[in-house]
This record gives sequence, structure tokens and C-alpha cells, in this order.
Amino acid sequence: MLTNNPAVSKFTNILAIESSCDETAAAVISNDHVLSNIIASQAVHQFYGGVIPELASRAHQQKIIPVVDEALRKAGISENDLDAIAFTRGPGLMGALLVGVSFAKAFAMALDIPLIEVNHMQAHVLAHFIRKEFPGGKLSPVPAFPFLCLTVSGGHTQIVLVKGHLQMEVIGQTLDDAAGEAFDKSAKILGLPYPGGPLIDKYAKEGNPHAFPFPFPQIPGLDFSFSGLKTSFLYFIRDALVKDSGFIEKNKADICASIQYTIVEILLRKVKKASEQTGITEVALAGGVSANSGLRNAFLKMKDEAGWNVFIPPFEYCTDNAAMIGIAGYYKFLKGEFAGQNITPLARLNF
Ligand code: KG4
Ligand code: ZN
Repeated sequence: MLTNNPAVSKFTNILAIESSCDETAAAVISNDHVLSNIIASQAVHQFYGGVIPELASRAHQQKIIPVVDEALRKAGISENDLDAIAFTRGPGLMGALLVGVSFAKAFAMALDIPLIEVNHMQAHVLAHFIRKEFPGGKLSPVPAFPFLCLTVSGGHTQIVLVKGHLQMEVIGQTLDDAAGEAFDKSAKILGLPYPGGPLIDKYAKEGNPHAFPFPFPQIPGLDFSFSGLKTSFLYFIRDALVKDSGFIEKNKADICASIQYTIVEILLRKVKKASEQTGITEVALAGGVSANSGLRNAFLKMKDEAGWNVFIPPFEYCTDNAAMIGIAGYYKFLKGEFAGQNITPLARLNF
């Protein structure tokens, strides 16, 4: 056992693999601490304005071994120090998932260690339980059960009632587009490259969020809808360009601030409703869109406005990463929830 890491002998070391969409990622975690977290993003999709599934699978195939190798090296451990391998079983793109699942199965068999299947959406929520040690030995705070988690990514928008590490219930979700798609499709209409969410965030910082009002969907309960907003945004830009072909360039910041404000308000209003209905004021954000500064600020304001205890993950654990797969794997390891070698990925996977 060649290692210079003192955590190795005392702790559970898990190698985690994430390959559900367009990030090839591997991480090593030791209990609830991250030893390494490597992400190889796939630039190839930028040329097409969205993720091309077949290109994603091929890029995963190329990158998986170097990424795992780097994760082990950065963690300072050898593969013989691993206690289990966790991987994303779904939801995601089938061809992309297959690469990670096949790699995890083969590596676990070669090392004769257990396999742990992880639900990608559950992992986004559990990213909140990755612990960091502050100077002086104090640990980063974690949400108390039960809490509400708004999980907002490129493929999903969910309000999750989290009763325990592995006890979660989706109490609201999108009926059509996800919040990330609403950002990315709006960006595409503005001629911005994929993924456009971070660019809208960037331009919105200089703009007036009330410059251009957009309609709010009237969906009962805790569910969301973003397709109507997308259509009205498309028509708004189309009509404005007929009158002035330079409209987007002249008003980019105000347009981005206005669409961002509308998406954030749609999300916030539903989470407020969920908090009122359940009486829960412990509220967390998760998923790629939780990197959005407008959303983060709107949630942080709720501390003063409604006494919420707000949890927002560090940026590196908001967008897709393998550390979150590792922490989910750790909680399953503690319960002895292992997968067999006959496991297959699932493009659609609920919890
Ligand atoms: O969780 P994630 O990395 O991947 C999925 O599981 O889908 O989320 C990706 C989504 C994309 O739609 C991307 O545009 C969005 O998160 N996103 C943002 C920001 N950063 C990432 N959207 C708005 N503002 C951001 N700063
Ligand atoms: Zn994700």
C-alpha cells in the first residue's frame, strides 16, 4: 500500500465516477471529506449549441482513464487503498452513462471491492454533506433534517423534501423545460454560445431586472413550467429585432437581467410556497443553476425576510462533479447498500 495520506488506514475511501452528461468526472473521498475532485468538461458541444449524445459518449471514453488516474494521484492514494467504487447509474444520457458504469464495474471487479450505484439527482442534494475543515478545526455546517432542497440543473427542476440522507421525496417538479434549459434556450435566442446560463448571469450583473417584464406561469401546486416563458421571450426578441436590428446588442445587459429575474422569481415563489405548506425553513439549493448569482442572492435575502436557514454549495459542487457521487456513495456504504455486477444504467431514474 503506497500512500502518504494519513486518512487512508482509518477511513473509508471511495472512488466516484460521474458521466451522466457532458462532464467526465472522478473524485476520491475519505468519509465525508474530498481528497480530490477532477472534472474534464467537453468543449466539443460548444460548436453545436447543445450536448450531442454520441460525441459525449466518445469523449467520456477518451477521458475516463486519465481523469481517474489524476483523481487517485491528487488524492495521494493507490487503487489498493480504495474500499468501494461509486458511480452514477442515472438519470442521464444512456451512451454517456454506459461508459462510467462499465468502467466502474470493471475496476471494482479487478480490485475485488464493492460497487455502489448512485442517483445523480440525489447526489446533487447530498453535495451539502461534503465537509470542509476551517482553520481551527471547525467543520462546515450541514442542513438539519427535514429540509427543502431546490435542485435546478440542465435537465431537472425539483423541490425535494429531504427527510434523511437517503430518504427524499420530490414534492414539486417541472412539467416541461428545466430551469437550466430556460437559461440556455434564452441565451441561444440571444445568439450566445452553449451553455448560456453562466453568460446570462454575467451580463445580468450590469442590467436592470425590471427593464422588460415577462409573464409568469400560472401552474397550481408546487410544480413549475418554463416553456411558456421561452415562447414569449422568443416572440419578444423577434418583434424587437424587426423594429431595431441592433436591439440585442444595445440592450444585452437589461435583457439578461430581466429574463434572469423572471426565472429566479418563478423558482423562489414556489419554494416560498413549499416552505409555507410544510413549515420548513431549512432551505438548500443544488444543481448547476445554483451557481447563478441572482438565484443565490434571492435565496440569501430570505434569511432576513422569512428567517430561512439557507444552504448553498460551493461553486465546484453546484455543477456536475464526482465528489457529490462520492458523498452519496459514502452514505450508501454506511448502510451496506451495494450493487451487483449485473447492474445497468438507467436514462430515467426516480428516487
Ligand atoms: O447540474 P448541471 O451541471 O448539469 C445537469 O445535470 O444538467 O447543470 C447545468 C446547467 C446548464 O443549464 C447551465 O447553463 C446552468 O446549469 N448553469 C447556470 C449557471 N451555471 C451553470 N445557469 C445560470 N447561471 C449560472 N451561473
Ligand atoms: Zn447534474
